[in-house]
Amino acid sequence: MADKADSTVKNTTITIKDEGAIRYLTLNRPDKLNAMNQVLDDELSAALSAADQDSDVSVIVIAGEGRAFSAGADLSDMGESPSSRDIADSINHSIGFYQQMVSLNTPMIAAVHGYALGGGCNLAISCDMVVAADNAVFGYPEVKLGMAAAGVSPTLVHQIGRKAAFELLVLCENINAEKALEFGMINRVVAPDKLLDTAAEIAQQLASYDHDALWLTKQLIRRCADMPLPSALELGRDIGLAAGMYK
Ligand code: COA
Repeated sequence: MADKADSTVKNTTITIKDEGAIRYLTLNRPDKLNAMNQVLDDELSAALSAADQDSDVSVIVIAGEGRAFSAGADLSDMGESPSSRDIADSINHSIGFYQQMVSLNTPMIAAVHGYALGGGCNLAISCDMVVAADNAVFGYPEVKLGMAAAGVSPTLVHQIGRKAAFELLVLCENINAEKALEFGMINRVVAPDKLLDTAAEIAQQLASYDHDALWLTKQLIRRCADMPLPSALELGRDIGLAAGMYK
């Protein structure tokens, strides 16, 4: 087998690198603050699928090259007066991406620094854990720009509840990492020069655990979050029994 520790693949907009069982996906449009255009969306989606299907990958880390994680959807892709068809394509594309994110089995960690706006913020919070540099800025400018925050709202409301989501989505004021921590959007705040090391340490810790135990627990957390407690408890029993934990 080729030495995966040294393998780095560079697409147009994503750098893919393996270190042991950890796959690093780095958004790589630094000149545009990693704004998410069609190419980046497609390459990221393909890279996530490939990582999820690779049995040598236990954890995915997503980061951004340059001075931001991602400044969100590429505004230059948006025409002055898009047709209904363009709007439908765009929203289907966006929802499809978040559906893919929730369906992935591999634990994902986002390492966020600088701006994480709109779709960039949603990409981060769609990961299972978020480590943020203390210079990170989170926000949803969509409504302020005259756009319904249609693609991003479902994930945010599920993650942080109605009141906090309303504040972010409708007040449209950016928040810092401490406030994002308070809202439950992220897990850790660290100095910028510790960001990638901290994400790597967490990823290594996860990668050292039993693969099935890790993946099944991730599935359980994801599915329980959307269920009433009695059903969630039943699911816990089913998954535990299926995994043979009572053998
Ligand atoms: N779409 C397309 N290009 C973007 C972008 C986006 N969402 N965000 C930043 N860029 C580009 C800028 O146009 C600029 O490109 P240029 O150098 O070719 O002119 C480059 O990235 C750097 O951005 P700049 O605005 O010069 O950096 P800044 O530090 O002064 O400001 C932001 C940073 C994030 C405050 C500002 O870029 C911004 O408001 N971006 C838009 C954020 C947004 O609304 N996202 C969409 C959510 S739906």
